[in-house]
Amino acid sequence: MPDPATAGSHVFYRKLTRRYPRIVRGEGCYLFDDSGRRYLDGCGGAFTVNVGHGVAEIAAAMGEQACVLGYVNGTAFTHGPVEELAAEIARLSPGDLELVYPLGSGSEAVEAALKLARQYWVESGRTEKNKIVTLTPSYHGNTLLALSASARPHYSALFGDWLVEGIRVRAPDGYRCECRGRAPYCAGCSGAAVEEAIVRAGPDSVAAFIAEPVGGSSTGATVPPPGYWERVRQVCDRHRVLLIADEVLTGAGRTGTWSALEPTGIVPDIMTLGKGIAGGYAPLSAVVTSRSIADVLAGGSGALAHAQTFSHHPVLCSAGVATLRYLREHRLIERAAQMGQVLHQRLGGLRRLPLVGDVRGRGLLAGIEFVADPETREPLPRSAAFAETFTQAALDAGLVVWPNIGHADGRNGDLVMLAPPFVVTEDQIDEIVELFDRALRDAVDRVGAMK
Ligand SMILES: Cc1ncc(COP(=O)(O)O)c(C=O)c1O
Repeated sequence: MPDPATAGSHVFYRKLTRRYPRIVRGEGCYLFDDSGRRYLDGCGGAFTVNVGHGVAEIAAAMGEQACVLGYVNGTAFTHGPVEELAAEIARLSPGDLELVYPLGSGSEAVEAALKLARQYWVESGRTEKNKIVTLTPSYHGNTLLALSASARPHYSALFGDWLVEGIRVRAPDGYRCECRGRAPYCAGCSGAAVEEAIVRAGPDSVAAFIAEPVGGSSTGATVPPPGYWERVRQVCDRHRVLLIADEVLTGAGRTGTWSALEPTGIVPDIMTLGKGIAGGYAPLSAVVTSRSIADVLAGGSGALAHAQTFSHHPVLCSAGVATLRYLREHRLIERAAQMGQVLHQRLGGLRRLPLVGDVRGRGLLAGIEFVADPETREPLPRSAAFAETFTQAALDAGLVVWPNIGHADGRNGDLVMLAPPFVVTEDQIDEIVELFDRALRDAVDRVGAMK
């Protein structure tokens, strides 16, 4: 039943039976509600708030741009903010990735990236290449093609008939696979499973392999073992499959480098960005690719077969330009790397707490997995709804975390994610750990009370 407190509202809420605190202000790592309560934003909203809340420069840049030019259509015109944004993303991106197609959400960027891969092959005369290989678990967005690429059964269950069938390969998940993340690696962790899937499907029929370079919320920030991405790159080259790195969550510095693939030296054929590239101040995403891929379209149909009213938007691009400038001028990506080490060192202490099975991640991205038995790694029963209970207990304690369920076997599995703004201080990291500890004890009590 809807909560009586929200019954008078006309908002179609994300959760229709929940009562939402009303947030009136954000500053740095904190949010404040209308009763004056303070929350530590431990997950940057949805891994989005990297520069922190309340950065006046970004708001001013957007306001100034809206005053000068609020909108022109990307089919008819170009303008300063889109040129500046594209140049900056090209400068930051690896290898020959230098063409930037701005959109709004991460799902849109993934849709456009997959369509680009398909169109590239069609216009190269390889019309038979139309299959997509993806990891499981994974998450690439909620529009139907992005959802098709995702392995998130609870989002897709209702829409199975509408989805494109992808080829699923086990994600490298050192906590849940048979090699337990140690050499000699299993097929999932070594990348061999990607090649097996492509060969089984027939390389001539495969257009693209899409994956998150470091796992996002669907895996709880799993970091593939050394050599994984090098092998995947070789496999894609060998079988002429385009490699799409979905850096919507991990890009813009979240893992301590501009992209999560950067430390590997691997250059994907297509990269998607979103979330942090405009710091949460505007919905901005991007498809980034090389001239050699775009040239095939330029020499063929002449355009990407994907059009949206709000692509290449001046005000959204100005938010991106201002955010990237702020990241650069305040050396915040370097800070994410440095504070990430502090975060992981302090989070290590959580391992001794009840139900904590694993703590993992890189930079300012961490996943904490809860299990019934840390020895056997047996997940908690779904009926306990532990991730949800913990998330509410954390909110009650004043800490915002991001929950995820179902990664262990499609149904069971409880984890929460931390991804604080890059301006987080050591004291605030201590506060996160302290509130986490308190929330965990509280959640254990609450679940116990429910038995
Ligand atoms: C890796 C990844 N790709 C794509 C998306 C979809 O982005 P959006 O929610 O902005 O559509 C997400 C969202 O969480 C994501 O984590």
